[in-house]
Amino acid sequence: MQNQLIDKFGRIHDYLRISVTDKCNLRCVYCMPEEGMEFEPDEHLLRFEEIREVVRVLAGYGVRKLRLTGGEPLVRKDLPRLVGMLSSIPGIEDIALTTNGIFFAGKAEALKEAGLTRVNLSLDSLRADRFSAITRGGDIRKVLDSLDAAERLGLGPIKINVVLMKGMNDDEIGDFLQMTRERPVQVRFIEYMPIGHDDEGWKKRYLPLSTVLDYCREAGWTAEPTGEVYGNGPSRNYRIEGGQGGFGLIHPVSDHFCEACNRLRLTADGNIKPCLYWSDEFNVRRYIGDDRALAELFFRALDVKPQNHEMAQALINQTPSHTPTVRRMSQIGG
Ligand code: GTP
Ligand code: 5AD
Ligand code: SF4
Repeated sequence: MQNQLIDKFGRIHDYLRISVTDKCNLRCVYCMPEEGMEFEPDEHLLRFEEIREVVRVLAGYGVRKLRLTGGEPLVRKDLPRLVGMLSSIPGIEDIALTTNGIFFAGKAEALKEAGLTRVNLSLDSLRADRFSAITRGGDIRKVLDSLDAAERLGLGPIKINVVLMKGMNDDEIGDFLQMTRERPVQVRFIEYMPIGHDDEGWKKRYLPLSTVLDYCREAGWTAEPTGEVYGNGPSRNYRIEGGQGGFGLIHPVSDHFCEACNRLRLTADGNIKPCLYWSDEFNVRRYIGDDRALAELFFRALDVKPQNHEMAQALINQTPSHTPTVRRMSQIGG
């Protein structure tokens, strides 16, 4: 066995995204159906001790960065305890969190003390009524408080995720860009992905991210590519001349970024997903306790990791090489 998680395309995997729950306190229109979803019973979720074991083994194979996702990770009780358990594993250098920001402000200090290094917040609109409509009931003030708390505690670079949707928030591109001129945040516009979705709803709302650069051109703003990578992200990053922050484009649909993929995913119910988009999964549960067998399972998962997700080909009904996932984003962890 190699001592690093390298796949057959030479990609080194040093980053694990860990979903700690499929539950969420919101139901964003691009993520969950209006009627909600059936969630995994608690006994199907990996326990914190099991997650720690997986990370401890992977740290021996070069994993350095972790991101906790969900669902909404802060719905899981006592998340700072997990962060503390993971940050004390030798080799782990970076522990980030992707959250909808509703509960974050109240937990920010405990998370930071436990070893959290960075935070990404979902914020798809800067208008209270629209934010509430997109999230089906979320209170934007709580997210803005969370942003303040993250800034105050230095949990940065802080990234703000904006899924761009036609007819929903595409008239706010300018407001988000203005925000990056005034605050040291990284706003990332994300292409709406057709994951576990009804295709019609997706087709109606999907917008390619060239829209953002077109907007800058028309507004007379110079968007400079920074070439910087904040964290390990898939986003291409820019700055408006003179801005305190910057913006990034994550465009998995119109132009994938799979050649630089360094990430593996672990779902809340214990499945390794080598690629977000495909159905291949490997359950870790019965291997926990046998370090070598667990590592071998990760190598087996890497063996089937495809060169790219072919999302666009799958959509125009060409024959993709694997079966698309039936899980929704909240069941994978984004
Ligand atoms: P870093 O840990 O800093 O690299 O952050 P990140 O940008 O990957 O994290 P975040 O969870 O905020 O990701 C933002 C969104 O980008 C996710 O929710 C997904 O929508 C999308 N995304 C992240 N990674 C991938 C990926 O590997 N493939 C695809 N298709 N989309 C991704
Ligand atoms: N398309 C793109 N991004 C999505 N997310 C969830 N569902 C989708 C989707 N269909 C991402 C958003 C959110 C994060 C938690 O997951 O970026 O901020
Ligand atoms: Fe919840 Fe995040 Fe999905 Fe919104 S995108 S419903 S906040 S898991």
